[in-house]
Amino acid sequence: MSINFGVDYYPEHWPEERWETDARLMQEMGVQVVRMAEFSWHKLEPVEGTYDFEWLDRVIRLLAKHGIKTILGTPSAAPPAWMCNKYPDVMPVDRNGQRRYFGGRHHDCQSNPIYREKVTAIVTRMADHFGNNPDVIGWQPDNELGNSHLDVCFCDSCRKSFQKWLQKKYVNVGALNKAWGTPFWSQEYNSFEEVFAPLKTLTGENPSTMLDWKRFHSDLIVDFLTMQVNILREKCPNQFVTHNYMGFSNCVDYYKLSKPLDFVCQDQYPTGYWIDDGWASPSELAATLDVIRSYKNRSYWMMEQESGICGWEYMGRLPAPGQLPLWALQSIGHGADTVVFFRWRTCTFGTEEYWHGILPHNGVPGRTYNEYKELIHKMNPLMEQMKGAVPKSDVGIIFSFDQNWAFEIQPNARGLNYQNHVRSWYKAFYDRHMNVDFITERADFPQYKLIVAPLQYLMSPVLADSFTRYVEAGGHLVLTMRSGVKETDNRCFTKDALPGLLRKLAGAQILDYDALSQNECEVRFDGADCQTESSDHFEGAAGFDGSSCQKKSEVCLEGAAPAACHGRFWADVLTPDEGTEVLATYASEWYKGAAAVTAHNVGKGVCWYVGTEPDDAFMSALAGLFVDKAEIRSMGCAKKAGSGLHGMPATDVEFVSKEKDGVVWSFVLNHSAEPRTYEYAVDAGELVFGENAGTLAAYEVHIYRK
Ligand code: GLA
Ligand code: ZN
Repeated sequence: MSINFGVDYYPEHWPEERWETDARLMQEMGVQVVRMAEFSWHKLEPVEGTYDFEWLDRVIRLLAKHGIKTILGTPSAAPPAWMCNKYPDVMPVDRNGQRRYFGGRHHDCQSNPIYREKVTAIVTRMADHFGNNPDVIGWQPDNELGNSHLDVCFCDSCRKSFQKWLQKKYVNVGALNKAWGTPFWSQEYNSFEEVFAPLKTLTGENPSTMLDWKRFHSDLIVDFLTMQVNILREKCPNQFVTHNYMGFSNCVDYYKLSKPLDFVCQDQYPTGYWIDDGWASPSELAATLDVIRSYKNRSYWMMEQESGICGWEYMGRLPAPGQLPLWALQSIGHGADTVVFFRWRTCTFGTEEYWHGILPHNGVPGRTYNEYKELIHKMNPLMEQMKGAVPKSDVGIIFSFDQNWAFEIQPNARGLNYQNHVRSWYKAFYDRHMNVDFITERADFPQYKLIVAPLQYLMSPVLADSFTRYVEAGGHLVLTMRSGVKETDNRCFTKDALPGLLRKLAGAQILDYDALSQNECEVRFDGADCQTESSDHFEGAAGFDGSSCQKKSEVCLEGAAPAACHGRFWADVLTPDEGTEVLATYASEWYKGAAAVTAHNVGKGVCWYVGTEPDDAFMSALAGLFVDKAEIRSMGCAKKAGSGLHGMPATDVEFVSKEKDGVVWSFVLNHSAEPRTYEYAVDAGELVFGENAGTLAAYEVHIYRK
């Protein structure tokens, strides 16, 4: 049987006498794989140059007796105290120039030559030792690279590496001065050696310097991972190499980090204690899974799937019965081949003693254990067949690390946030029960009927050209505000009116723009002609034949018509070229009456420009118009159970499908605490998971196969 489910296991946190019980309980639950050792440097190398792999051999052997394979972490996320004492320079320096010390994790500088030497040594030893062990199936170098590192490190070694990186990029310092606009505030450099790591300044920062720093830092992390992967590839040809990511986290360009890996993994914590309202929304979770899939453009693993209350100093919410399996199934629906639960047993000490595992502190199996056991036994036969299946999407949304970084450096307007903007577009399609792909701007676009390219702030001729070719060939492209503003070196574009290199494609120019701060602007939008209709067309499958339900822009999805449409954060005041259609106009501010949303037919396709961030209802209505034009159908619809013919559509029910070799697996997931009814608009085939087609209990999931 393939590897479908596993747990993250820390045998070094428990007396050895307990290992056997753990292995037995795991086996009974259906665990087939564990990940171990990613923070165990001291146990593996207790003093410099003396290695001890025996305890790990023992536990690997014991687990194998119970049919459980192992994934090994390399321990570079937790350099031990002996190292930090002897070589304090391996510890990172933050933006204040302050060293960060031993006692947490990831207190390492990834450019430091001694640190790299130590990492190379232990990874080489581990690879030599475990590379031919048939019970070890793969590797996870380090842990959540980018996590905890944030903007560190700014040490001398990193400064020198930055200078080298710049020299390679710009060749001569004149080119650097030009790209960074250094005449401003006398920032010219006479040589690369004069460039600082961007430590805290008294006031302001150079946006071009900051963007290159973020790119450098990302490349450094990629290089650090690649260094480890190269060792493992050479010595462990039969074991896979992967890494655990954190969704939209943006310390490292995950598209680049994925290159040397076989597949990528996600760590998914829907009730992370840092989440203000306690729960990540279903659409945010779905977006996270879709972005993870995009990084390697293939199916992925969950390396850490939440198993209970998440907590460090504070704790998050308690998942209700059924909710944990629901989230695991959501991960699977969006393309996870294997789900590994974090963690096997709740630790009784250390920072994460409240980060709950499957077993409670006392180690006695309870509700979570039983829920997962049931899930595993029901899902195993299906998981087998689903391996490699991924959603097929007509909608693609571009996610760009460069744009994200540029907006982090300069949000442009109070409250404007690149990721929130991207996710608000995502939600509009998610709510209409459509599969969505995220794509890198370096991808090929043509396979998508509709592409949303949010906040294309930095623009290159190559990217502008690929957008244009996509539209000319019949594509439907949505550009949003603040596009074409800058060159890729983060200096303002000057050769045309905005949106700069996208001006011809948009068929409009922006002669004025307004950062709205906390004000919303009113927008007049007549496109959504179903605003006043009831949502009767949701009542039967007939409504999905493309005539009524699809056509009516789904303000109706929310049930109620928006009394008015609003834009947030920003207003690009559009002056359309001749032949460009105006779809929406501003209805407040002195530019009342000016275009807010335009449509420009180019070749066989159309380019829309949306000059503001639409509020939810407006966004939904616009998305309805776009999918209608691009002829994209929704998979189905859902209602509150017992709400009758006129029941309001329920967006807390999620539809997602994935496919492989012509077989389509359709998942419908009830994220609410109450029953829901649903109908498919497409032929989903045979119900293979769950019963009572058409009705879902609280947190229940149905799966169909066709
Ligand atoms: C992350 C890490 C784990 C653990 C969990 C819980 O995802 O990868 O090591 O710290 O969070 O905090
Ligand atoms: Zn450093």
